[in-house]
Amino acid sequence: MNNQSFSTKIISTAFQKPDVHGAITFPIYRNAAFEFADSESIAAAFQSRIDAHTYSRISNPTVTNFERKIKAASGAESVLALATGMAAITNAFFTIAYAGSNIVSSPHLFGNTFSFFKATLSAFGVEIRFVDTNDLQQIADAIDENTCAFFAELITNPHLEIANLLEISKILKAKNVPMIIDTTIIPWCAFDAKKAGIDIEVVSTTKYISGGATSTGGVIVDYGTYDWTANKKFSTLTKPKDISLFTFKLRSEITRNLGACMSPDTAYMQSLGLESLQVRYEQMSRSAYELSQYFSTHPKVVNVNYSKLETSPYKAISDTLFSGNPGAMFTMSLASKADCYKFMDALKIVRRATNLFDNKTLAIHPESTIYCSFSPEMKKVMGVEDTLIRFSVGLENVEDLKQDIENALKFV
Ligand SMILES: Cc1ncc(COP(=O)(O)O)c(C=O)c1O
Repeated sequence: MNNQSFSTKIISTAFQKPDVHGAITFPIYRNAAFEFADSESIAAAFQSRIDAHTYSRISNPTVTNFERKIKAASGAESVLALATGMAAITNAFFTIAYAGSNIVSSPHLFGNTFSFFKATLSAFGVEIRFVDTNDLQQIADAIDENTCAFFAELITNPHLEIANLLEISKILKAKNVPMIIDTTIIPWCAFDAKKAGIDIEVVSTTKYISGGATSTGGVIVDYGTYDWTANKKFSTLTKPKDISLFTFKLRSEITRNLGACMSPDTAYMQSLGLESLQVRYEQMSRSAYELSQYFSTHPKVVNVNYSKLETSPYKAISDTLFSGNPGAMFTMSLASKADCYKFMDALKIVRRATNLFDNKTLAIHPESTIYCSFSPEMKKVMGVEDTLIRFSVGLENVEDLKQDIENALKFV
């Protein structure tokens, strides 16, 4: 992705059709249905012979405008916006998984993704094969003729592991398996997904893109790089002219049936969020680096994890994939869970809240919150430790944040 033109591409994406009033920002079309002049026109719209909106669960002008901006920014073949990041993940896998198929995945996943795989999809006869993504041989060995995808998060959360997608993509290409990656953690201004070998991205736009946690949302980004006829579910379908079989099935069947569409109000807010994404990302990343560096030598802190630090085992791949700009999330380990609680309770500027990449700095103790419903054994598999605090750095002045964290550490 060309960094210099990222914001310009987003801000200057042309409307699908000129606005009758010349609105400079795309308006919110808050209606459910669209009317047609005659029966032939509405039939043509339903049969996709003309490019027109019929019903907002299927498509909506404000949502399409948001999708077009992401398409321009990412260089993807097609983009579909949905109600949440989880809707993006579930819709993507309901499109490709079938009873008897398997997904090769990192076990280090956002809690609901883990639960979707292990509880929801498993009940439909889909096997989840967890692998250590640092072990390329393990990935190769786990793949067979029923593997419908390899899946991982770009930077795992809260462990901050980074899989070497460049190496993994060579294995997947040789075995003809699509790579689906949750890229919520790093937006397109800092990362070229297509170059890294990703076929499909799933993103929670609730995070960086929403522009200050204004709304929940998700997108599925299809680079059109995988030939889906290798997947048994697609073998009887004929590829349409301008989209992949994946997007065809996703748009014409799965998303209509599941109905988790993005609302026009959300698309409006998140389109504005996209316009300021790059400046927010760069500012937040600078502060995250400064804080992680500063506190890594603090006597009360056992460990700080941020992939730009020399101590991170993922520094080299982080520098390669993200041009040395790995975002706003870092973690800090203290000596005990009790210390984590004492520290968190003393914070004054940093908020105790879940979510990531708000304009406000957030801290959370993942083991007792996001992962609280998992058994101790599962937490072990997922690598979630009770001495760890996750930070998402916002846009406050970095010196104020430093002081707040420094002060709270006095209570440990
Ligand atoms: C990496 C990652 N993926 C997906 C999700 C789910 O996104 P949403 O809350 O928008 O459904 C989250 C939420 O925290 C996340 O951190």
